[in-house]
Amino acid sequence: MLITIPDVLSATEVKQAKVALDAAEWVDGKVTAGYQAQSVKENLQLPEGHLVTVKLGEMVLAALARSPLFMSAALPLRVFPPMFNRYTGGGHFGTHVDTAIRANASTGQRIRTDISATLFLSAPEEYEGGDLSVEDTYGVHSVKLPAGHLVLYPATSLHHVTPVTRGARVASFFWVQSMIRSDADRTLLYDLDTAIQRLALETPGNPTAVQLTGVYHNLLRRWAEM
Ligand code: NI
Repeated sequence: MLITIPDVLSATEVKQAKVALDAAEWVDGKVTAGYQAQSVKENLQLPEGHLVTVKLGEMVLAALARSPLFMSAALPLRVFPPMFNRYTGGGHFGTHVDTAIRANASTGQRIRTDISATLFLSAPEEYEGGDLSVEDTYGVHSVKLPAGHLVLYPATSLHHVTPVTRGARVASFFWVQSMIRSDADRTLLYDLDTAIQRLALETPGNPTAVQLTGVYHNLLRRWAEM
């Protein structure tokens, strides 16, 4: 499932992030890429332990925690500390699949990357190119979102970022280990949750909504890995 979550960060938070990122020292993005991805990756990143990475990462994590849509779609067990990248002057990232297992540099804790996430920090009119292109069984999806908006997509999918030919594209990226490993199972739960919420809104106190809520939780109980 590919899902976009609007306004994860407010306009003020985006501005605050961009001021800090504009002043930071960027390094070659190849440092966090696996062997195959290194050969196709041309961008800049902030180092994982950098003060700006940590501070802004905390801001992103706090924003995720207050997003019911993120919680419902991702059913997160662990979120990898958000990182930041910058594409400019033809920078791009060729087709690859994200590394399956990653270790948190500060805690050593490993996470399985079930979901990949990109939080756009540059407005679409600030740059040319820089589309995130994700392949799934339904075809290729091109994603370019307003600043502050987030896209979640299966980490199992092939994806790439097209060259940025004008301006700069700055984004935060991270991964989620979900309580529900399978994208198909997670999609079912998300659809069920969405339908229940709609039913409860349309007819408050509807006993069918109560019963379906029970089904949702019993499926989650059956499938969740922790
Ligand atoms: Ni990737």
